[in-house]
Amino acid sequence: MSTLPPGPPLAGGIAGPDGLRPLLAVVLDALRDGATARGGPLPAGGPDAVTAWVREAAEPVLPEHGTGAEEALRTLVTAVARGAADPADPLCAAHLHTPPLALAVAADLAASALNPSMDSWDQAPAASELEAVLTRALAAEVYPHAKDPDALVTTGGTESNQLGLLLARERHGAVQVICGAGTHHSVQRAAWLLGLPEPVLVPGPSDGLDLAALDQALTDLHGPLLVAATAGTTDTGRIDPLAEIADLCERHRAELHIDAAYGGPLLFSQEHRARLAGLERAHSVTLDLHKLGWQPVAAGLLAVPDRAGLAALGHTADYLNADDDTEAGLPDLLGRSLRTTRRPDILKVAVTLRALGRTGLGALVDRTCAAARQLADLVEKTPGLELYERPPISTVLFRPTGATDEQTAAIRRTLLTGGRAVIGRARADGRLWLKATLLNPHATPGDLTALIQEVLIELVLVEGGTPDDRHARNRTRPAS
Ligand SMILES: Cc1ncc(COP(=O)(O)O)c(C=O)c1O
Repeated sequence: MSTLPPGPPLAGGIAGPDGLRPLLAVVLDALRDGATARGGPLPAGGPDAVTAWVREAAEPVLPEHGTGAEEALRTLVTAVARGAADPADPLCAAHLHTPPLALAVAADLAASALNPSMDSWDQAPAASELEAVLTRALAAEVYPHAKDPDALVTTGGTESNQLGLLLARERHGAVQVICGAGTHHSVQRAAWLLGLPEPVLVPGPSDGLDLAALDQALTDLHGPLLVAATAGTTDTGRIDPLAEIADLCERHRAELHIDAAYGGPLLFSQEHRARLAGLERAHSVTLDLHKLGWQPVAAGLLAVPDRAGLAALGHTADYLNADDDTEAGLPDLLGRSLRTTRRPDILKVAVTLRALGRTGLGALVDRTCAAARQLADLVEKTPGLELYERPPISTVLFRPTGATDEQTAAIRRTLLTGGRAVIGRARADGRLWLKATLLNPHATPGDLTALIQEVLIELVLVEGGTPDDRHARNRTRPAS
């Protein structure tokens, strides 16, 4: 009888780690080599440069005969790392795009190797129990006085907001959503997806919710109402006045969903948690630990004060949660998500919470918020730059004094395509601002100064200098 040649090793089982170890060494070297070749927060040269060498690395996509694990890992991981916008670089600060903690990434490797699927107990006996323990504990952080709080694990703020609106619709029918101008766009899309009326936008200070305007809207509108407030808007990080909004909702018998995708982790900080007072009065709360929680994507949650409120998601598929299996004591997991196959995203979260503890996580939150205040101080001290407002969490909006929107946008793009800095943009007060969303807890004062320096160099153009002046300063990195 002829024996088959051994196939590529599997990641699981007793032999799995031995198969993985040499490959991990290749991956780690490729990550380092890619970051070295990049030499900054993102690749220089813009989309054309990246397209050229990614295509070269990626072809042939499906060769007739494979190149082998080491070559494939080395080539493609190096290419993706070389072309990454790397949030671990302090000059990569555009979005709520977090630099993941090494320990969370290590835990995620275990999740991939074991590959539990969270849709049935027979695919995830321990992971599903860990999820049950973790989700209850995290929900209790949001709802400390609730009897039976719980949370669903999601792919992020978008799915959490969708589920929050879905649960409200299941409770009350076609709820009318009321929100502020800065509400995340996923709320609008969720209303569209769920067949709800188009959300009513209440005017407010900047991108927040104005209480008098909200009161008026709640008075004028009829039928089941759901206010969607935000604890940490995407553009400015502002936190709506949650307790006052909860009062208004109670008075008008409206439901309250709070999108705390960004600001939720302030709960871990002694210094900042009081700013979320009122969160516990919402019918549902979006949390997202792949923002201010330093988790690799995905790590979203939707918390509710009463587990029974999740019953609307119950669903039976005989192959996953047959009634007789459930009656015999096998946990029924299908109602924990609208997805079927689902990664055990809670493992990395559990490892992070245990490894750092409340004080460790709180310290990361505090350092990040402090870095944002330092950046705001720097902007205020720098002639030629204007600060939008003191940062509510870790987002700093600033712009060159007197620049047009087009000039401001051009500064951002030039830094981006030059591979020098990743800064975001936000419209506030009718003007375009540069947006630094700081999530890197290790950013130093020197890093913040470097970020401002990069913007100042581009200001030469705004002040009427020529591109030659700019090149004379020799700041554009050559395309790597
Ligand atoms: C306030 C807020 N809510 C929801 C989301 C959506 O989160 P995700 O991209 O994880 O789906 C974001 C994304 O930045 C956000 O800022």
